[in-house]
Amino acid sequence: MTIRVLHVASELYPLLKTGGLADVTAALPAALIEQGADARVLLPGFTSVAAGLADLRPIARLSRSFGAPEASLELGRLPGSGVPVYMIRADALYARPGSPYLDAEQVPYGDNAQRFALLGWAAAQLAQHADPDWAPRIVHAHDWHAGLAPAYLRAAARERAQATQAAHPSSPLYDPRTDSLRARTVFTIHNLAYQGIFPAQQFDMLGLPADYFDMHGVEFYGQLSFLKAGLYFADKITTVSPTYAREIQTVAQGCGLEALLKGRAHDLVGILNGVDYAIWNPAHDDAIAAPYSAGHMSGKLRCKTALQARLNLAQRHDAPMFGVVSRLTEQKGLDLLLGALPEIVSRGGQLAVLGTGDASLEQGFARAARQHPDAVAVELGFDETLAHAIVAGADVMVVPSRFEPCGLTQLYALAYGALPLVHRVGGLADTVADASLENLADGLATGFVFERFEPDALAAAIRRAFALHARSHDWRETRARGMQQDFGWAASAQRYMALYRELA
Ligand code: ADP
Ligand code: GLC
Repeated sequence: MTIRVLHVASELYPLLKTGGLADVTAALPAALIEQGADARVLLPGFTSVAAGLADLRPIARLSRSFGAPEASLELGRLPGSGVPVYMIRADALYARPGSPYLDAEQVPYGDNAQRFALLGWAAAQLAQHADPDWAPRIVHAHDWHAGLAPAYLRAAARERAQATQAAHPSSPLYDPRTDSLRARTVFTIHNLAYQGIFPAQQFDMLGLPADYFDMHGVEFYGQLSFLKAGLYFADKITTVSPTYAREIQTVAQGCGLEALLKGRAHDLVGILNGVDYAIWNPAHDDAIAAPYSAGHMSGKLRCKTALQARLNLAQRHDAPMFGVVSRLTEQKGLDLLLGALPEIVSRGGQLAVLGTGDASLEQGFARAARQHPDAVAVELGFDETLAHAIVAGADVMVVPSRFEPCGLTQLYALAYGALPLVHRVGGLADTVADASLENLADGLATGFVFERFEPDALAAAIRRAFALHARSHDWRETRARGMQQDFGWAASAQRYMALYRELA
């Protein structure tokens, strides 16, 4: 039997992307289709989504619109992969250019609770045949934006059962586990730090049963949490690496939800993200200066030279080029890198940074670039083409995150022969093997890993990178090993398929 699965999310590459979530929601449904699933996506009709989907046509009017004059469902296709995408047309809530979450002043929109409640509610409607031609057996919700989908589905199922019970008082008491009509739900945590917290007063507007505002429900320390709704009501919880799945069950990394997650440990699994090698492959990448592959590496030097030229850095072939492509937030640990900058510059290395986010980090890197114009370059902003150019031109990609659910940039780095230098945490710990003497001897090393989130630990890893760079044979061997790693989506898609089968 073909499994019909609806992915519910707020971002989708290439239409709308603020981080790795968009890469996942684009690649995973396509990979599931390759595995035989019937996968579709549901997104809010943000400006770039409405403009970018092909063949959009109306499907149904929605009976609730959360404050918008009206809301409806449309169905189109993602250009390129052709994956079918439902879009919620509710212009009063979604037709805003730029960030899907923040206004021009970088402040969360005041009606975010309404905007993302509609997303979760519409997902539940699709599971209840809002589209007469297609209904999912599995609703797979991503991050807090889609967190209410499992809650709405559970509420609808209970309501249906209560109606049956009223009509036939002898029927058994409602048990969501044995209710075979109900679509099953999966909730994926891409980042536990973003929780979708709103004032308790917003609960009434959601139209959920009153008893759902409870510690065993959507209530979180007196407030309303969309993330907790997903974690509490979903049948299964996944996150994007095995190590992060363990970490979030601890006080240190559980963001206040560790007890819930520990209590649901049997329903929680870590499935590593993959790489879409159709987009991230140095042998076929229009965004880079010259193609290259593990067997033909000369193009990589041309990419490095082009990057130095583009960023007005000194044209030096031998200078190890460190790269960063990242959101500039607390999570990413780049304050630690700012502190370790002298370690790179004084040893003759260069650093290329592309990112946007916290003003203090933006200013810190901009200041470093002014102080060392030959060695440090910073581009503030979001630039997909430059992101590829940096990964291709870099010798080392630095990802010193405080926490990292999975992380995609270190996987892209491996594919592009840029050795990842990472903090041993979350998905970074699961995907990079340190160039220790024993790992080099055993043919396991793929990058540089530091244990403690401390300046001296990062500095030591940077020194290890310089030391290995000076041993060109070992460097080339490590780089080639990294490029041969297969982090394609097929393996992950198979694991999601197994999970769906278990549920369906
Ligand atoms: P996160 O989702 O936490 O931001 P990931 O490593 O999973 O981290 O994914 C980040 C994605 O966003 C990658 O595709 C990366 O290339 C991209 N990215 C991050 N910052 C920028 C930027 N400033 N410009 C272009 N792409 C960026
Ligand atoms: C989040 C995480 C990142 C992960 C991405 C995709 O943004 O911060 O680690 O790779 O989601 O799952």
